[in-house]
Amino acid sequence: MEHKEARILVIDDEPMMADSLKQNLEEEGYKVDTAATGAEAIELFDRGAHHLAICDLQLPDMDGLEVMRHVKDVRPETEVIVVTGYGTVAKAVEATKAGAFYFVEKPFDFEQMQPLVERALESLELRAETKMMRDRLSTRAEYFNIIGASKQMQTIYETIESVAKSDANVLIVGESGTGKELIANAIHYNSLRSKKPFIKVNCAALPKELIESELFGHTKGAFTGAHADKEGLVQHAAGGSLMLDEIAEMPVELQPKLLRVLQERSYRKIGSEKTYAVDFRLICSTNRLPADAIRDGLLRDDLFYRISTITIHVPPLRERAEDTQLLTEHFLKMYSQKYDRPITSVSQAAYQRLFSHTWPGNVRELQNVIERAVLLAKSNKIEPVDLPFDNGSLPEGATASAEWEVPPNMTLEDIEKMVIEKTLQRTGGNKQAAANLLGIYRPRLYSKIRKYNIDVSSLVAT
Ligand SMILES: Nc1ncnc2c1ncn2[C@@H]1O[C@H](COP(=O)(O)OP(=O)(O)OP(=O)(O)O)[C@@H](O)[C@H]1O
Ligand SMILES: [Mg+2]
Repeated sequence: MEHKEARILVIDDEPMMADSLKQNLEEEGYKVDTAATGAEAIELFDRGAHHLAICDLQLPDMDGLEVMRHVKDVRPETEVIVVTGYGTVAKAVEATKAGAFYFVEKPFDFEQMQPLVERALESLELRAETKMMRDRLSTRAEYFNIIGASKQMQTIYETIESVAKSDANVLIVGESGTGKELIANAIHYNSLRSKKPFIKVNCAALPKELIESELFGHTKGAFTGAHADKEGLVQHAAGGSLMLDEIAEMPVELQPKLLRVLQERSYRKIGSEKTYAVDFRLICSTNRLPADAIRDGLLRDDLFYRISTITIHVPPLRERAEDTQLLTEHFLKMYSQKYDRPITSVSQAAYQRLFSHTWPGNVRELQNVIERAVLLAKSNKIEPVDLPFDNGSLPEGATASAEWEVPPNMTLEDIEKMVIEKTLQRTGGNKQAAANLLGIYRPRLYSKIRKYNIDVSSLVAT
């Protein structure tokens, strides 16, 4: 499809808006239909072969979101640009989650709309080309350098896909080493801003008193030591994305200023009255739970609401044991190449150790463990002694032999129940890891947990 042959459906109940958009788009060479109500839009859409719908969220007879859902149901490949009035941004974000290409706030100029239309149609073409390939890859084991096939990671990939192209603020929450930065990269490099800078600021690493001037810049003489004018990082991020890493470590005194900048979309350098427009997409990360950070007075709740339009929770590695193996293989390959050592596999016993470890340092810790093991391995296989989890003298299971003496008067079922409970305790409640250790598939473990009425959370708490 040549762009200019594209058919566009404009849905807006304000005739002025609809007509001027139609006229502008037609001048660009597109074929345009307009609808003033949801019902009319649906009727036109069902008959016409529209490639793109530009849809107002507030329609007289129905919710624009419903129209959009209809469009996506009938012909999912159709792109939708959502137009939203003041105060309905949250709903627009919902629309992008439901598959809208982009949302634009009213009032807008045609100069704003035109490139979006181009890009939406380009993306449509691209998707048509890659659709067949994509269909074959329904579960992804890798996505933008992120390794992981677990259900939790699939959900994260889908979220990234659906929010990357909007300008919605994203907050990434997860323990240290879970891959928050990789996720931030995937968002930026998947966004319409991917060719523009991606600036990262670690709020924990910068001295408190420097953060403000680093972010917003200062004028010469604004404070002692300000020998020359300085551009802030928000300026460097213009047109691109800004990542505020460890946002809960940003000084609380500075948080209202950041909030104002986000609300007013403009900022001032320290020592200057001049305001500059900001144009960056904000991605924040934190390894504290926001609720805790707010309770402890580290994070202002008003800022939190602003930065967390979309929140991505990255689960710790121990909760997605199925990724442990994939990541192990990945790092094994990576480090055996890097160090030119012919290590090709991991023994069953070593895998059992990897599955039962609780990974407080998450993927970063696993990466370090495998790097070290590649260097230590004496054969082409990684063995338990190459792993750092104990002094290496005895296999983990063997030390516990005394505990496994069979108490009298126990049935086989009693024993099975006890073994399952002990194993779950050992894996900190991780069922995948427990199933691996027990040598059974997870569904089977689930059915046994049900059968014996095992309360996993109480096992872990004790
Ligand atoms: N899913 C993954 N696939 C491949 N590598 C990963 C994955 N998750 C994390 N890593 C690797 O682990 C290391 C830590 O990842 P990253 O810096 O993204 O974590 P983080 O959550 O930002 O950590 P921190 O909270 O300490 O800043 C990096 O070397 C990264 O490449
Ligand atoms: Mg990080």
